[in-house]
Amino acid sequence: MPAPPPDARSFLSEVISVEPCGDDGVLLALRPELALPTVRASRFFMLRREDGLSPAIPRPFSIYRQRGDVLEFLLKVMGRGTRALAACAPGQLVRTIGPLGNGWPALDGDGPPWVMLAGGVGIAPFYMGIEQALAGMDGRTPCKPSQLHLLFGAARSGLLYDLAALEALGARVLTATVDGSHGLRGNVLELLAREQASGAIPREVRLLACGPERMLEAVQHFADERKLECWLSLETMMGCGVGICNACPVPTKPDGPRGAWPNVKCCVEGPVLKTDEIALHA
Ligand SMILES: Cc1cc2nc3c(=O)[nH]c(=O)nc-3n(C[C@H](O)[C@H](O)[C@H](O)COP(=O)(O)OP(=O)(O)OC[C@H]3O[C@@H](n4cnc5c(N)ncnc54)[C@H](O)[C@@H]3O)c2cc1C
Ligand code: FES
Repeated sequence: MPAPPPDARSFLSEVISVEPCGDDGVLLALRPELALPTVRASRFFMLRREDGLSPAIPRPFSIYRQRGDVLEFLLKVMGRGTRALAACAPGQLVRTIGPLGNGWPALDGDGPPWVMLAGGVGIAPFYMGIEQALAGMDGRTPCKPSQLHLLFGAARSGLLYDLAALEALGARVLTATVDGSHGLRGNVLELLAREQASGAIPREVRLLACGPERMLEAVQHFADERKLECWLSLETMMGCGVGICNACPVPTKPDGPRGAWPNVKCCVEGPVLKTDEIALHA
């Protein structure tokens, strides 16, 4: 049975700050009681207030940023769990379990450019993804800024969270909004098609995506049709986050590299899965 990562721990963190971000989000900064080495982008932590005001089951969140000993999370307020975390005051304690999951593959500068497709709060795993790609991962060749394209989409401009900070990282950043309030009127795949048609992004790219399920299904379809390498960071509902409760199955392709077993557990085998392994779209 797939096991949780050996470096995962359960510990307390102190809330340093909670800052509004976009129309419905917050940036939650936590100082863990133990020192954490650099966390790979697109790994995640389960978070729950320690004062009993969170639901009993902690909620999963991607690491957004790591600054010295401070971990930052970008939270979209959805329901009880995110509301409770967003209402934290400095000094409060948060149960923190992680780092969990696998994270992005090594984002190297040796192959085709990387196109990062983010939908709404699906931007969370990309801030450190860009930082780590530019710095070099796993001893591989670092990416040049020109090899990283971030295509960030949302329903409207107020949901393009922390855009200025993302633009400052050095990758090429383009936006799309459904209502046309920022960037292209449309979605990130339409934006990618436009960029490829103009030659600004080549046809052969490596794709990374995180966002709503419907968006990821469309990205998988796009990648399958064009036989592009593509990794999805899935935000499947989770219970335990460590492989015990079976709350997070993701269907696999019967003829894919995972073999005949019909599901993977997103928490311990993901949240990053390659599109040749899984079957999001029919
Ligand atoms: C690996 C991973 C990383 C994540 N990273 C982030 C992140 O960085 N930032 C962030 O804001 N969110 C992230 N999420 C999603 C986040 O965990 C959920 O939004 C959160 O659990 C909602 O809890 P809640 O108690 O506020 O809402 P609930 O009361 O549990 O639910 C409120 C509503 O949101 C829906 N919902 C809840 N969870 C999800 C989900 N995962 N996908 C789609 N709909 C959902 C419910 O169906 C319900 O309609 C991540 C999820 C996973 C699995
Ligand atoms: S969330 Fe419990 S097994 Fe994945």
